This record gives sequence, structure tokens and C-alpha cells, in this order.
Amino acid sequence: MTTDNPTEQTFAKLGISAPDDVLRLFEGVRQSFDEQAARPFSGQESWKIFVVNWTGRKSGTLSRIADNWLKPASPELKRVVGQELNKLKAHIEAALEVKQREIEAAAAQAAQARDRIDLSLPGVERVLGTRHIVRQTFDELQRIFLSIGFSVVEGPEIETPYYNFEALNIPEHHPARDNMDTFYIEGARGRHLLRTHTSPMQIRTMEKQPPPVRIVVPGKVYRRDNPDATHGYMFHQIEGLAVDTDITFCDFKGTVDYFAREFLGPKTKTRLRPSYFPFTEPSAEVDATCHVCGGSGCRICKHSGWIELFGAGMVNPAVYGFVNYDVERLSGFAFGMGVDRLAMMKYGITELPVLFQNDVRFLRQFP
Ligand code: PHE
Repeated sequence: MTTDNPTEQTFAKLGISAPDDVLRLFEGVRQSFDEQAARPFSGQESWKIFVVNWTGRKSGTLSRIADNWLKPASPELKRVVGQELNKLKAHIEAALEVKQREIEAAAAQAAQARDRIDLSLPGVERVLGTRHIVRQTFDELQRIFLSIGFSVVEGPEIETPYYNFEALNIPEHHPARDNMDTFYIEGARGRHLLRTHTSPMQIRTMEKQPPPVRIVVPGKVYRRDNPDATHGYMFHQIEGLAVDTDITFCDFKGTVDYFAREFLGPKTKTRLRPSYFPFTEPSAEVDATCHVCGGSGCRICKHSGWIELFGAGMVNPAVYGFVNYDVERLSGFAFGMGVDRLAMMKYGITELPVLFQNDVRFLRQFP
């Protein structure tokens, strides 16, 4: 500041002796404050400097007025200087406070504008996965059997020949082993295999628990098939087993009918064709009336009106011998369904490989 700032000088230097002069001096200071306060402040720094310039304890204008004007003032002028200084002080403090609030509000508004959420912007779409069609089919099959008192158990995919064959009444050189081209695993702990069906869990379950037994067994099975439109080296089965003291062929047929109606629709009828499995006697292939044409013949049922559902039969008494079940008192039925086949048939899928290629264009068709 240069010496043309009157607050830096005393009244004696300024030649002030009348109260009117004092009023004029204060009026000038107030005007100069108002002018400066009206300018826009470029930032927090310039604002702080301005505040200190006026109210700073050591070198602020107000302190200077107290030092240069008030303290040395003659007794006649002291009163008017004191009054004017108080008025000026009140004016400045009030004005600074208003200004301070304005600055804060402007800063808050700027921050808000910066952070504002633009509701018109497109959102981030999160792609939700769905259960695979094979999983959906498993769930549907399990639901049906859970509703009539079956429970779900699972077992190992690596099996011993004993559980996969022997205990199911398929001895070493039995021709029934031929149509189950098996992946064998020669290991330090002897010969193992990838289970060719879920039937080993019939044995494992009966070994572990006394009758009655009502289970379904979902799982993967493996066979050395040459891959084509309907075959792979791995597919899914769900096994069923019911054993109790008085289970008849009627119970078997009734369960099969109930299942077919639940899975394919209430009008579905079933028929049994004679078949052969070493672990069931008698054995049957279960067919159902075609769910697409209702039995009149169409492309899906190859114009026969019937579709093949699964293999089944009454548990062969020979099997009970392997698990120490009482052959005289017990009877039961078992079935083994190809889950991928059932899914393909129900949803009109003609190629097995698409089930496992994970092409989203395919998967999206089964939300
Ligand atoms: N395990 C047989 C198969 O994979 C199916 C089956 C299971 C048949 C249970 C009868 C009873 O072909």
C-alpha cells in the first residue's frame, strides 16, 4: 500500500481536526471496501487475501484504523472515531459474512453440477445368466420324483468294475458289457473306470441303508461312443430305484404313468416294450405317446405316434444278494433315463453337440 491510503496515516499527518472530516474519511473507507467487495473473486485464495486485508489482526485495515486514527485521536474526536469505527466494523463483518455464504453456495452448486447423475443416459445392462437346458431338465425330473417321495443322491463318476458291473449282475465275460464301451483307468490302486451308467448308485445306496429305498440319482456317465448328432463320450442320466416290502409291477407302471404325464402333459399315455437288462427282470423300454402330435404321427416321433423314454424294470432278485437285502421279503423297480435325450425330445433339439458347445445364441432360447 502506498501512502495515499489514508488509513496508514494519523489525523495529524492528514490534517484532520473536525468531526465532519472524520465522517468523510470513514465514508471513503467504506466506499472503497464496497467497491472491492463487489468484484468477483477468482478463487478461494483471492477471497482469503481480501478478508485478511480488511480484518486481519496485525495489518488489516480495521486494525490500522484503530492504531492510526483511534488511539492517537484527541479527546474531542475519540468518541466520533470510536463510533464510526464500530459502524464500519459491523458493516464490513456483515458484508463479509453474506459474501462468504454466497461463495460457499456457488461452490456447492458447482460441485453438485459436476456430480449430478444424468438420468437420461442409457444404463449399464447386466447380463443375467440362466440355468442350462440340461440343468433345467434335471431340475424338472427331480421335482417330479421328489413330489412322490423320492430323494436325491449323487455318487462318484470314477467307479470300480464291481459297482458298475458285477454287483449289477453283469459278470466279467457277460455280453452285456459289450454294448457299454467303457473307458478304463489303470491306476496304482487297481482298475477303475468312468461309470457307464448311474446304476452303480443302486448298489452303493442299498449297501449303505436298509429298505425302504426311494432314490433318484442325477449325474454324468461316459461311454466310448463315436461322436455324432446323437452320441457323445459323455451324457447325463437320472437313475431311479424304489425297493420296499410290497412293491408290485402295478406300482412300477403307475409311477411311470405319473412321470410321463407330469413331464409331457396330462394326456400322455405309456406302453412297455420287452427289453433286457441284467439287473432288472422283467425289463422294459418305456414309450410315451408323442407330446407333439398326441399319437397320430409326426416328424418328432418319426410317424410312429410313440417316443422312447427310458429303460426300466423290476429289480432282479440277483441284485439283492450283492447288498444283503432279504430276497424273500423285498421287491422293487428301477429306471435309468437319458436326460439329454429327454431334453432334446421335449424341446425339439435335433443335435446333441449343441447342448455342450455353450453357444449363447442357443442357450438364450431357454431362459
Ligand atoms: N443303466 C441302464 C442303462 O444305462 C438303464 C437302466 C437303469 C435300466 C435301471 C433298468 C433299470 O442303459
